[in-house]
Amino acid sequence: MSFLANPRRTRLVAELVSETSEAGASFGAGASPQTSRPEDTVGTDTTLDVRTWVNDVAELTQPDEIVWCDGSDAEKQRLIDEMVAAGTLTPLNPDKRPGSYLARSNPADVARVESRTFICSQKEEDAGPTNNWVAPDAMRSELNGVFAGSMRGRTMYVVPFSMGPVGGPISQVGVEITDSPYVVVSMHVMTRVSARVLDLIDDGQQWVPAVHSVGAPLVGDDGARAADVPWPCNDTKYIVHFPETREIWSYGSGYGGNALLGKKCFALRIASVMARDEGWLAEHMLLIRATSPAGKRFHLAAAFPSACGKTNLAMLRPTIPGWKVETLGDDIVWMRPGPDGSLRAINPEAGFFGVAPGTGEGTNPVAVRTFDHDTIFTNVALTDDGDVWWEGLTDTPPDHLIDWQGRDWTPDSEEPAAHPNSRFTVSAAQCPTIADTWEDPAGVPVDAIVFGGRRASNVPLVTQSLGWEHGVFMGATISSERTAAAEGTVGELRRDPFAMMPFCGYNMADHWAHWLSVGDSVDTAKRPLIFQVNWFRKGGDGSFLWPGFGENSRVVEWIAGQIEAARGEGEDRSVASAVGRVPAAGSLDIEGLDLPAEDLEALFDVPAGPWLTETDLTEEFFAQFGDHVPAALYKQLANLRDRLDG
Ligand code: GTP
Ligand code: SPV
Ligand code: MN
Repeated sequence: MSFLANPRRTRLVAELVSETSEAGASFGAGASPQTSRPEDTVGTDTTLDVRTWVNDVAELTQPDEIVWCDGSDAEKQRLIDEMVAAGTLTPLNPDKRPGSYLARSNPADVARVESRTFICSQKEEDAGPTNNWVAPDAMRSELNGVFAGSMRGRTMYVVPFSMGPVGGPISQVGVEITDSPYVVVSMHVMTRVSARVLDLIDDGQQWVPAVHSVGAPLVGDDGARAADVPWPCNDTKYIVHFPETREIWSYGSGYGGNALLGKKCFALRIASVMARDEGWLAEHMLLIRATSPAGKRFHLAAAFPSACGKTNLAMLRPTIPGWKVETLGDDIVWMRPGPDGSLRAINPEAGFFGVAPGTGEGTNPVAVRTFDHDTIFTNVALTDDGDVWWEGLTDTPPDHLIDWQGRDWTPDSEEPAAHPNSRFTVSAAQCPTIADTWEDPAGVPVDAIVFGGRRASNVPLVTQSLGWEHGVFMGATISSERTAAAEGTVGELRRDPFAMMPFCGYNMADHWAHWLSVGDSVDTAKRPLIFQVNWFRKGGDGSFLWPGFGENSRVVEWIAGQIEAARGEGEDRSVASAVGRVPAAGSLDIEGLDLPAEDLEALFDVPAGPWLTETDLTEEFFAQFGDHVPAALYKQLANLRDRLDG
């Protein structure tokens, strides 16, 4: 096949940036491309015709028919009805959970597969030491074999979608080809599927071609037709990105980030490369707006590793009086220097694909309201009255369930009823705390960036960075401790810089350099402040020192106060510690909490010895990236050591 082997022609990045801008505005024009790259390997071929591409992919994959999707409700319902008939979806009790369905995946297809995720940049160095790299030509010829005939006997859907409001200055578009109706329906929820996207592409907007096949053809080489199964997939999986040509090819899985290609593949891996080249940021972050009792608004974007509480913080219900938190996004944020000199952010997604276990009335009542209708649940348990259940939804499990694999389950069963990575797929518009500006194409101005890991020791509850460079250092050094349950040495640090380890489409250390350059392109007065938080610090008895969840509003309140101080509208309520600015005595509102003074002290303890050990580990971690690590970060490391020694 020729189209997989064609290096596609491109246009200059500057042209692409100016075309996505609003008339007269200068979105994204602030920072210059990080590295100079050969003109013919950067960006999408905007002359690649969608119809030609669709025909080429059809020629390779040989589907029975091609269906162009328009994103309509009628289209969604038709596909849902077909999946119910095929046994892929089980309708839930309409009195308990109207408009909702349960999907059970193949037990071997339940999560993202990082070991089969590839960044196929021209140069291995551009993928960096933390990504799987294969040379693009080698991968293209491998994929040609894998995709040949992969859709035989199936329908190929063509799904034009926008990440961000259609036509917005921070938005981007793509087209996903898929042979999975479950993926089409999920894309309806998670992205904006619209025929208008094709008009934008016809008008010359850059777009991301994304090909997905479950890898389970129904017609064999001999022409014999096999019956379908509820969740087709393949043992062999590929989640492949060609960053220079902005292409995605995914094979073998129908689950989550492997298959809904607008999410991790586009909005993080490919978008992070676009963002590097065009002067913006694509990050694994939630986005919220906090409003003070005085009516002042603060927008926070926060990066936490997977399963460390982004959805919980995104839907925070403040326990402190007078404060309001509204939701803008729970997983991905795109930020661009805006025409007003601030950093403007959008949530490029249109829905939530949230972890079900642990989500209940006590931990996240807003999520519980959000998915009470029109939701697709995947790999949760089914109750006898046709509703869903998972560990943590209620304190007491029902007496009998059908587990995520379709087997009888009782509270005596050995295994959990729901898969630990079972998820709900639901429109963001259904969230009762969604902010009225969540679909503003121009985004919201970011006042603070927050980095969080899961750390039992060392890292204080909240720390303010000493400036942008120190904040980038904080992001670059996010990590979580291994627990006794995981492989490896207990207490060993698992690094997840910017919570982007599995999601950065280029060399992670270049990502840090890019953050430094974006900081330079934002007005100093409007540059977000950077903080680090840690809800997971443990006391000597192994229990969490901080109550977390709604009580995290107390930390948000302190952060907001620091933003006001930086604007000259209030007092700085911080004091110095070796690792950054921490709340001055009495400045963190702990009224009404059952928090002993020694626990509060322990939450902010910065032990010099363990921290010095940690700086050695950081040096080792940085070393694997060689000279890609910006000198400014080594300077931050040296400064930290000096402060710890002092
Ligand atoms: P992805 O969708 O995988 O990117 O993850 P996410 O960051 O949205 O993760 P999620 O919100 O599902 O993380 C949930 C986990 O974080 C559960 O184990 C929660 O118990 C835990 N968690 C969330 N907030 C808090 C908190 O304030 N304190 C403590 N101790 N745990 C928390
Ligand atoms: C994550 O793993 O960070 C997720 C879930 O948000 S998935 O979309 O499957 O990648
Ligand atoms: Mn995520």
